[in-house]
Amino acid sequence: MDELLLCGATGDLGGRIAARLSERRIPFRALVRPRSDTAALRSMGVELSIGDFTDPPSLGRALAGVRTVVTTANGIGRRLAGAKDVSIDRVDREGNAALVRAAEAAGVERFVFVSAQGMTDAMVDLVPFFAAKRATERLLQASPVRSVIVRPAAFQEVWLGPQSGIRPDQRLAVIYGRGRTPVPYVAEDDVAEACVRLATMDDPPPSLDFGGPEALTRHEVVDAFQRALGARIRRIVVPRRVLTFGARALRRRRPDLASILGIALSMDIGNEVGDEPLRALEIEPRPASAYIAARADATAHT
Ligand SMILES: NC(=O)c1ccc[n+]([C@@H]2O[C@H](COP(=O)([O-])OP(=O)(O)OC[C@H]3O[C@@H](n4cnc5c(N)ncnc54)[C@H](OP(=O)(O)O)[C@@H]3O)[C@@H](O)[C@H]2O)c1
Repeated sequence: MDELLLCGATGDLGGRIAARLSERRIPFRALVRPRSDTAALRSMGVELSIGDFTDPPSLGRALAGVRTVVTTANGIGRRLAGAKDVSIDRVDREGNAALVRAAEAAGVERFVFVSAQGMTDAMVDLVPFFAAKRATERLLQASPVRSVIVRPAAFQEVWLGPQSGIRPDQRLAVIYGRGRTPVPYVAEDDVAEACVRLATMDDPPPSLDFGGPEALTRHEVVDAFQRALGARIRRIVVPRRVLTFGARALRRRRPDLASILGIALSMDIGNEVGDEPLRALEIEPRPASAYIAARADATAHT
């Protein structure tokens, strides 16, 4: 019987966790939706349990015999990509609550929940995604299940990549707010490794807040791309007041978009967090400049 359930295994971070568990021959089951793209999981021979955060009985079935839950599942990425069947409320708030309740009923011993940095009270009020994350954190902290709350800083692959408006191929980059606040961008592989260790180590901490080893401002990120490419990159600035106004205006109608604007604002306001917790887990984290150099190199060769 598999003793670990991974939720979100078809996602970017979740997929990296699945690959590590599989490489290390740690038996696990993945909760996947009926229409999830499971090709990578099948090729690794992972046991699949069909279910959905919006279908509580399916969570109970997936949890049979499970002692450890790891979840990265969230509704924001797919919603932003146009999916209509996911939402922050249904997946991140109600779905996570249903998973916590089902884990309690199934006698789960450890619950590793991937949350986020930057969730000050003001930001939780502004950002629906943060509000859902905090609600789940609170449920877990009050639960008899031992919880491990993982709060990574912004991911390099997301916030230094094209989806956040860094387009060296088009020689343009979006600067959110002033762009003068250092952000300790962290590599998704390092986050995945931390999740695996927290799921399997003897005595995990109740929470882990961390970033990568190198904090760069948004302007420094663009400067680094410019140096690597030997070309000027145009900067399109979205002022803080536009981020704030947009997040407020879209909060009810498009909570996913409002959340992205609010998260960009929270990063520009800043949140100091270091890489020491990763090093304490014996992870050597990748600096942001290594990611930038690799992307600039790939851009130069296309
Ligand atoms: N991006 C950042 O900078 C950042 C920073 C800190 C923390 N985080 C956190 O890190 C995690 C990112 O994970 P990721 O990159 O793997 O996300 P992702 O690529 O967006 O994948 C989302 C996953 O959730 C699953 N899912 C969506 N709706 C579901 C539902 N109703 N029932 C069950 N599963 C559902 C998706 O399944 P399908 O494939 O079927 O859609 C997919 O496996 C998130 O928790 C995020 O909050 C991100």
